Amino acid sequence: MPIMRAAFASRFDDADPLAALTVGEQPDPPHWSDDWVTVRVLASSLNHHDLWSLRGVGLGEDRLPMTLGCDAVGVDPDGNEVVVYPVIADPGDPRGISLLSEHAQGTLAERVAAPRSNLLPLPAGLSATDAACLPTAWLTAWRMLRTVGRVDEGDAVLVQGAGGGVATAAVALALAMGKRVYATSRDAAKRERIAALGATAVQPGARLPERVDVVIETVGAATFDHSLKSAAPMARIVVSGATAGHEPKVNLRRIFAMQLQILGTSMGSSDELAQLLAFCAEHGVRPVVDSVHPFSQVTDAFARLHSGDVFGKVVVDHTR
Ligand SMILES: NC(=O)c1ccc[n+]([C@@H]2O[C@H](COP(=O)([O-])OP(=O)(O)OC[C@H]3O[C@@H](n4cnc5c(N)ncnc54)[C@H](OP(=O)(O)O)[C@@H]3O)[C@@H](O)[C@H]2O)c1
Repeated sequence: MPIMRAAFASRFDDADPLAALTVGEQPDPPHWSDDWVTVRVLASSLNHHDLWSLRGVGLGEDRLPMTLGCDAVGVDPDGNEVVVYPVIADPGDPRGISLLSEHAQGTLAERVAAPRSNLLPLPAGLSATDAACLPTAWLTAWRMLRTVGRVDEGDAVLVQGAGGGVATAAVALALAMGKRVYATSRDAAKRERIAALGATAVQPGARLPERVDVVIETVGAATFDHSLKSAAPMARIVVSGATAGHEPKVNLRRIFAMQLQILGTSMGSSDELAQLLAFCAEHGVRPVVDSVHPFSQVTDAFARLHSGDVFGKVVVDHTR
């Protein structure tokens, strides 16, 4: 069995997830069936999901050691540059699907295995490090806005906690779709960077100059009341994460009086990823990148994400 370098969870540590991270040798990832192929990874990016995995959320002891990482761009066995769609059919999971790094080994390695049908061509004009930001956080934001939030029917969008990967994606995409975008952040420096993207940056909880048609909610308990108060009649509040707590107090009276829709979503389809790749290539939209780390220093990338100080995606360049 060939051996490769990988960043993997060797145990769980809820209090100090970085202590559960090991960088070392792992066997090449197995193929679950004949239609799987191995991709040589050129670039990957980190998600909050990787920190949850190191904490033991969504991953069982029986699956350790588990190579982390959902996102990758690489080279397929025929020499084509491809973007890896990270959702795989998984009869062993109650959802019927799982993400790379949940049951199948992840992307933070020299090589990753996936069904051939999960490989999408890397569009011309998109670099490997940029495209590696798209399959999880950006795909989630795309589906939140377009498919679930029906943003095309509205003009104004609020994005909560705008420093995160999903949130910066939502800001950049909504702006590129021509919407008026409001975004909250606790941090003055992040608010400046949001404003530089073209959005109106406000403090968490601040009253907006107008009510919005779509709210992008990944923060949860800390911002949910503001999401409800900022929503226009018939607005969609789309939830894909709860970084700051998953049990907010909810004012039901506001929900029925304003006829609000609270909609949950996770990830997106392979077709939606293809639409997102085409949209970015056509409209010149590029991911907001916090930092790019050589694979040889992948632990720095994890430390950066864990610092909570990020603005945009933390990317790993596997060619260095
Ligand atoms: N369902 C899916 O398919 C899917 C896909 C990707 C991500 N997610 C989930 O979406 C969430 C966001 O992930 P991410 O990687 O984009 O970003 P993240 O690192 O989890 O950060 C999101 C933002 O939350 C804000 N925040 C954190 N704690 C807060 C608090 N106590 N009060 C107010 N704001 C707070 C911060 O904003 P400021 O510092 O700017 O205030 C931060 O930038 C995660 O929970 C993740 O698991 C879900």
